[in-house]
Amino acid sequence: MRHFGLCIGLAGLVVLSAALAYARPTPQLANVTLENLETAFNGESNAHARYLAFAQEADKEGYFQIASLFRAAAHAEEIHAKNHANEIKTLGGTPQAKIDIPVVKATKENLEAAIKGETYERDVMYPEFYKQARTAGIAGAVQTINYASAAEAEHAKLFTSALNNMATMRAKGVTYYVCTICGYTTTNLDFAKCHTCYSPKEKYVAVT
Ligand SMILES: [Fe+2]
Ligand SMILES: [Fe+2]
Repeated sequence: MRHFGLCIGLAGLVVLSAALAYARPTPQLANVTLENLETAFNGESNAHARYLAFAQEADKEGYFQIASLFRAAAHAEEIHAKNHANEIKTLGGTPQAKIDIPVVKATKENLEAAIKGETYERDVMYPEFYKQARTAGIAGAVQTINYASAAEAEHAKLFTSALNNMATMRAKGVTYYVCTICGYTTTNLDFAKCHTCYSPKEKYVAVT
């Protein structure tokens, strides 16, 4: 019985330590994560503007499905920016973005630029920000970074597929679906709950 009590005591201590790890970020680590979220907010806000400009160019060139994909991705980036902004405010910051005038080229090059951006966010930026937010123990930051990272990975796949199949991407009215909670972007709703945030699929909106 004494051992049993000791085990319960130790288990309680572990749970308490884990809770405190999330409850009390050190100011220094919290500042790093706040700066990371400000960087990510700026990046997502610019990606939103850039993809809307890329969509216009794709429409002009008659790549209507690619235009729909860019609009869907733009909406996803807007959701990421909003999620990051909420967490920045929670951490005492003020979300600010400097929107650069998008550099728009031909659709093929726009897709290549988009893939480069998404790949960087997926492989370099968000993994580093995720690690630092985990170390700081800031659950809200971990969540918004995780949501964005998962969606960017899917965007990279969708843009790569579009680039490899440009000749078949001229159909009008193709629908993409975007999760309004986490920004995950997909071509079909063959699931009950979002793969990333587990929201019911009713939270998805259609973008054409
Ligand atoms: Fe993206
Ligand atoms: Fe989601």
